[in-house]
Amino acid sequence: AVIHEQKLTRGNGGELHQIAEDGTPVLTTAQGGPVTDDQNSLRVGERGPTLIEDFHFREKIFHFDHERIPERVVHARGYGAHGYFETYEPLSAITRADVFQRAGERTPAFVRFSTVAGSKGSVDLARDVRGFAVKIYTKEGNWDIVGNNIPVFFIQDAIKFPDVIHSVKPEPDRGFPQAQSAHDNFWDFISLTPESMHMIMWVMSDRAIPRSFRFMEGFGVHTFRFVNANDESTFVKFHWKPKLGLQSVAWNEAVKINGADPDFHRRDLWEAIQAGNFPEWELQVQLFDQDFADAFDFDVLDPTKIIPEEVLPPKAVGRLVLDRMPDNFFAETEQVAFMTQNVPPGIDFSNDPLLQGRNFSYLDTQLKRLGSSNFTHIPINAPKCPFHHFQQDGHMAMRNPVGRVNYQPNSWGEGPRESLEDGFRHYASDEQGAKARLRAESFADHYSQARLFFVSQTPPEQRHIADALTFELSKVQTPAIRERMVSHLLNIDETLGKKVAHALGLKSVPKPADAAVPTRQDLAPSPALSIIER
Ligand code: HEM
Repeated sequence: AVIHEQKLTRGNGGELHQIAEDGTPVLTTAQGGPVTDDQNSLRVGERGPTLIEDFHFREKIFHFDHERIPERVVHARGYGAHGYFETYEPLSAITRADVFQRAGERTPAFVRFSTVAGSKGSVDLARDVRGFAVKIYTKEGNWDIVGNNIPVFFIQDAIKFPDVIHSVKPEPDRGFPQAQSAHDNFWDFISLTPESMHMIMWVMSDRAIPRSFRFMEGFGVHTFRFVNANDESTFVKFHWKPKLGLQSVAWNEAVKINGADPDFHRRDLWEAIQAGNFPEWELQVQLFDQDFADAFDFDVLDPTKIIPEEVLPPKAVGRLVLDRMPDNFFAETEQVAFMTQNVPPGIDFSNDPLLQGRNFSYLDTQLKRLGSSNFTHIPINAPKCPFHHFQQDGHMAMRNPVGRVNYQPNSWGEGPRESLEDGFRHYASDEQGAKARLRAESFADHYSQARLFFVSQTPPEQRHIADALTFELSKVQTPAIRERMVSHLLNIDETLGKKVAHALGLKSVPKPADAAVPTRQDLAPSPALSIIER
């Protein structure tokens, strides 16, 4: 290897600059020491042992050895971009959120798109839900809408999240499959979880194999609240609508693309933004009050339900434009930490039990993944507005309180204080009831909206759903699971159920599933399962 003969430049006072005479920066260690030879480790004689004294070698290898951090426990594979959110008109009558107060104002944003089930190195065109996580750096702190490209979810209560994710990830004994193909554990869990039926219809539809991130919708999923300056609340659901419209690929196309280019979605986003074709989404909101919510048979707190747009047309309130790729994938896309609990004053939560659980989970997971309670010191996670607090120390602390004071109140008249007027005021909803592990009767209907989705599809789209179900269930080796799934499909659409039963070669069409929520007894291990050799 060629070792460049470089001399450091010096200032007028003779001080060293770590720049060679030809302008090339001189290679240094992480401690700043200039390096003479980065090609050969320090050894005794030409063919002798390497010396432990070689601090340059040791530092370089040590750092390399520590390059990996845990991948996200879900949504491990993702791709992000910078941009901005632009407000269309002031919404001060319904929310005090500063980001919605001035027409035309642009607020910086970062978005990360992802698949859910696959590992960091998995393929882009898996049949899967896509994450659509938006961080808006408002003047009152970061607002994260941690959404998906599907408006509903598999489960109604966050306590089931580890189960649904365990069932879809590689099976613990064999360590496969990835997100691509069906397997018994996933369909076993789904068939025992009727609340997942609406989501399953979306996941088996073309929505789960998008053409690119640029042709996807995004949804906040849960019912949130807008709260105005008078502390009055309006329920709100958030939707991102792509300017380019919706496009998907067919399953046989997805399989081929995955083989030819597993980075197809990343490449598409990178190339579009580098070429100046900035993707854009409109933020639309569905706004409603308690009386409106009470008129439905279903519960607006149930994340397996939508409010049909025909019933409640969404209102466009702003747009999101992505116009810059990160300078560094790891620093930004990998280290960005989204958290549902990041809401500015004027935006608040509902009691959706999935959202409530998520509000606990994200802080916890970021500590594990990023390794320090100071993960907000990483530039991509830091607010872009002024911030003042007395949090200090800990691993990798980059910012500590300046001066003597690190508590409040204090007698020195120093440091920040709370503000009743401008601080976050939690919406004072009136809550009461016995402490119990219960699920409301209003969460019990699991089939109506699954049916609504199926019948809303065009005939070719319906055919794709039937084909996807047949393909996936044909990979399930346990007959009882296939039959149990078909018994649910019959409740969604009889023709669909029979079509899949026939395509799977079932000897007879099973009885439709009991539409009631399964009891503990229903969920007991089925004898049919235990006698099947897996
Ligand atoms: C990550 C969405 C439910 C726990 C994510 C990400 C998205 C997302 C988009 C990726 C964020 C990124 O790009 O960095 C959703 C949606 C849900 C849902 C829309 C339901 C409506 C849940 C639930 C839990 C959960 C119920 C747990 C109780 C996590 C965790 C991560 C994650 C632990 C990894 C975060 C990280 O390491 O950065 N979720 N999620 N999610 N989600 Fe969810």
